[in-house]
Amino acid sequence: MSSREQLEQYTGEVEAVIERYLPRKAGYQRTVLEAMNYSMKAGGKRLRPLFMREVYRLFAGGPEGGGEAAVEPFMAAIEMIHTFSLVHDDLPCMDNDTLRRGMDTTWVKYGYDMAVLAGDALAIYAFETAAKAFSVSDRPDLVGQCMGLLAEKSGISGMIGGQTADVELTGKEVSPEKLDFIYRLKTGALLEVSMMIGAILGGADREQVKAVEKMASCVGKAFQIQDDILDVVGDARVIGKPVLSDEKNEKTTYVTLYGMEAARKAVMELSKEAEEILESLPGDHEFLSCLIDILITRVK
Ligand code: IPE
Ligand code: IPE
Ligand code: MG
Ligand code: MG
Ligand code: MG
Repeated sequence: MSSREQLEQYTGEVEAVIERYLPRKAGYQRTVLEAMNYSMKAGGKRLRPLFMREVYRLFAGGPEGGGEAAVEPFMAAIEMIHTFSLVHDDLPCMDNDTLRRGMDTTWVKYGYDMAVLAGDALAIYAFETAAKAFSVSDRPDLVGQCMGLLAEKSGISGMIGGQTADVELTGKEVSPEKLDFIYRLKTGALLEVSMMIGAILGGADREQVKAVEKMASCVGKAFQIQDDILDVVGDARVIGKPVLSDEKNEKTTYVTLYGMEAARKAVMELSKEAEEILESLPGDHEFLSCLIDILITRVK
């Protein structure tokens, strides 16, 4: 099977897992449930749960063994948190964008009020979902550790912290250190926790979890720089979101700070660094290596 076919198959499997954990649409709160599911089902590359499951398999010795049942609620949970971050990121008070995953953004479709609530609801439903891992795991200590880490990397020490600094930098000069901080938190943190949860539930030791965090941090930075590049040279029909959103919002990005050529070079170098760390880890690396390669070549 080619790596492209494998990616398609695995993405389909991840979609099926996510679908199983989506809330049922019923009751007087039906509108917000519809808005949550609209955002979750709009598509997306599903990279975070893909990375989570693959890193799990690296340490668990493959898909067999039954332990994957505990990873699945976390796969759905990380995609809920990521989707919540996108729903809020698109709001008029933040990036003010109208297209996401090739569809109207949640606030355009359901209104500003429902988009705020749908984002809030997804953030909290993510933890309700992750908690389902307790009933299928024989290691409640590890499940608890993963839930704590998920909160840390999503909240003020992670994604929300990064988004805060990102919103405040609009229209301002930004130092390279601050830009690094923003990328590490707003984008890196969710990729880090995706892979760290996979590692922890797969039985990695402390040193290995640290190596995974470093690898994911490189992936996260490369991923955000590539996102900045696509914001300039991408095709909205392919990326499924508007181009030139950063320029519209007067954002300093890796591209505006260092130039396009340096940005492309940084993506290559960071991916290479991630690959080198991957080489030091146990298990079958082939598909993970393919996922990292996608970062360099991705057009969406
Ligand atoms: C977009 O993430 C937001 C960033 C962190 C750059 P993705 O590019 O993974 O978005 P989807 O999930 O595929 O829509
Ligand atoms: C988003 O950065 C990071 C998030 C945590 C959502 P961007 O604002 O560049 O993401 P896109 O380009 O809208 O997906
Ligand atoms: Mg933004
Ligand atoms: Mg945005
Ligand atoms: Mg962007």
